[in-house]
Amino acid sequence: MNTTRRTHIKVLSGALTGVLLPVRAAETDFNAYTDEQKEKLLKDGAVVSAEDIGHGVTKPVKLKLSLSGVEHSAQVQVVDKELPDFFPQGGGGPIPNHDSWKYNVAAYKLDRLLELRMVPVTVPRPYKGKPAAISWWVDDVMFEEAERVKKDIAPPDADDFARQRAVGMVFDELIINIDRNLANMLITKSWKVALIDHTRSFTAYHGIRNEANLTRCSRALFAKMKSLTAASITASVGPHLTNAEVRAVIGRRDKILDFFARKAKEKGEENVLFS
Ligand SMILES: Nc1ncnc2c1ncn2[C@@H]1O[C@H](COP(=O)(O)OP(=O)(O)O)[C@@H](O)[C@H]1O
Ligand SMILES: [Mg+2]
Repeated sequence: MNTTRRTHIKVLSGALTGVLLPVRAAETDFNAYTDEQKEKLLKDGAVVSAEDIGHGVTKPVKLKLSLSGVEHSAQVQVVDKELPDFFPQGGGGPIPNHDSWKYNVAAYKLDRLLELRMVPVTVPRPYKGKPAAISWWVDDVMFEEAERVKKDIAPPDADDFARQRAVGMVFDELIINIDRNLANMLITKSWKVALIDHTRSFTAYHGIRNEANLTRCSRALFAKMKSLTAASITASVGPHLTNAEVRAVIGRRDKILDFFARKAKEKGEENVLFS
């Protein structure tokens, strides 16, 4: 049956039964949504449905939330447990290590402080009686980076993509993320990289864990990292990082800036920093 005929029959049956067919609401343009609008939907939205999504061990859940007629999906993370202590390669330690929903909130807050806008909006909100982080479901996901690599799909603008990857890696070192597997990096239809799943980050280690993550850095991120203070981080992340964890962000920040300054001298600034 063609669409016109099907529509005609639907309209007719609606008219016959006296039931008005639902009018399809105009699609909401979530790309135009502000962080504040997203936070409100995540905090106040009614839970319409829930399904398990995890292929990892943290058992995250995908929710459908609804607020004032607007529906959107979200990821819930309740994990909060100790991991084996961290032993830095250069000696020292042990340093306590955690897997926690709190770091999803802290990563979002720090991302915005650095004006990266790569981490989805995330709010604290209890789920089924447990403290949890609720994250905006990234819009227009094309695939996980894992799939792009597997299928060897070339980005349309290789330089831009490489710059986004480099910036993401610096961020991972700043937050000492030990779990950036390629399923935790999403690529949108407009080839924007989104960083998700930061529950294994923010160990209170003051050094650089993995120098290989520090390939290049944008001048904007370099300047924003320089302007971070313990006070500005604390004001932004609130109770989601301890003082020791905040001090360690500053400690790593200092080392990352030194590292790039040294590399810029060795290799030439244009080979290390980009605009
Ligand atoms: N906020 C989100 N937006 C879009 N996709 C998501 C989001 N959170 C999770 N996913 C998808 O679900 C997968 C599993 O979620 P994740 O939080 O990484 O849990 P885990 O690593 O424990 O399996 C991700 O790799 C991603 O494909
Ligand atoms: Mg994951």
